[in-house]
Amino acid sequence: MSKNIIFYFTGTGNSLAVARSIGSAMTDVALIPMLKEDAHTYINTHTESIGLIYPIHVNQLPIPVIQFIKKIHLSSKVYFYAVATHGGIPGMSRLYMNKILKKQGIDLEAYYEIEMLNNTPKGIAPKFLMRLNWELDITPEKVEQKLSAMQIEIERIVKDLKDRKETTVQKPPRGTGRMMYWMMQLMWLISNPSKTKLQFLVDDSCIGCGICEQVCTTKRIKMNGERPEWVHEHCNFCYACFNYCPKEAIGVKYYTKKLGRYHHPDISAQDIAAQIK
Ligand SMILES: Cc1cc2nc3c(=O)[nH]c(=O)nc-3n(C[C@H](O)[C@H](O)[C@H](O)COP(=O)(O)O)c2cc1C
Repeated sequence: MSKNIIFYFTGTGNSLAVARSIGSAMTDVALIPMLKEDAHTYINTHTESIGLIYPIHVNQLPIPVIQFIKKIHLSSKVYFYAVATHGGIPGMSRLYMNKILKKQGIDLEAYYEIEMLNNTPKGIAPKFLMRLNWELDITPEKVEQKLSAMQIEIERIVKDLKDRKETTVQKPPRGTGRMMYWMMQLMWLISNPSKTKLQFLVDDSCIGCGICEQVCTTKRIKMNGERPEWVHEHCNFCYACFNYCPKEAIGVKYYTKKLGRYHHPDISAQDIAAQIK
């Protein structure tokens, strides 16, 4: 068993690409999907470091990440860090991470945020907040630019991690910052998957390839002949189905016919699907 473990969750590959990049710069490291059924069994008394790498969802932690953390039990001290990828508005997700780890009796030694490409056209936000020119943000040139910047950031993080550096953990803000914090908490509660039902739609350009079914991290999609069907409501909000569809046939409310889909160029649909195998 490896002494250093990186647990990851990803919908469109950004977080997996970061995990691979960090992992390849370390020795004796295993990359384990948080969705893997026996993921927690990789942690043992020989574990020296644990990293969590995941996307920020609505200024918060994705549901599978929260569920994963709630099952972590450490019997010995490990160097614990987290790296969150985001699309430009990370909010105060480090506070939530800190809070939830504290409940498990775990100290977060280091925390980093990496701005990458946004993988959602803000499909679950109210219409007036929607940016309908998302496709302009995800041109090949802009993707290339962002990903190069990301690589520089990763080198800095890797250096810190090798030095077992401790980054200061943000304190809950005061004044207007505190108000923002509570507003974000409220936004999170409103968009909580147990309440929000994210509806995907499929149009006639669907070719029945079944990629959406393969990448769905909640096994929500089943092919009915040549058409995908969302057979239950439980959703990780990962947007993998929406972004990996080769025909852009899958839409989400307000965004049905708009162009523009993104997934990390080095991460395939099979890589996403491998998380739940
Ligand atoms: C449901 C959802 C909510 C998101 N919320 C935020 C957010 O609040 N702030 C932000 O900067 N990016 C947000 N994003 C963008 C992702 O954090 C970003 O694109 C991330 O790198 C995707 O990582 P992945 O490819 O590993 O899934 C959101 C994405 C999704 C799908």
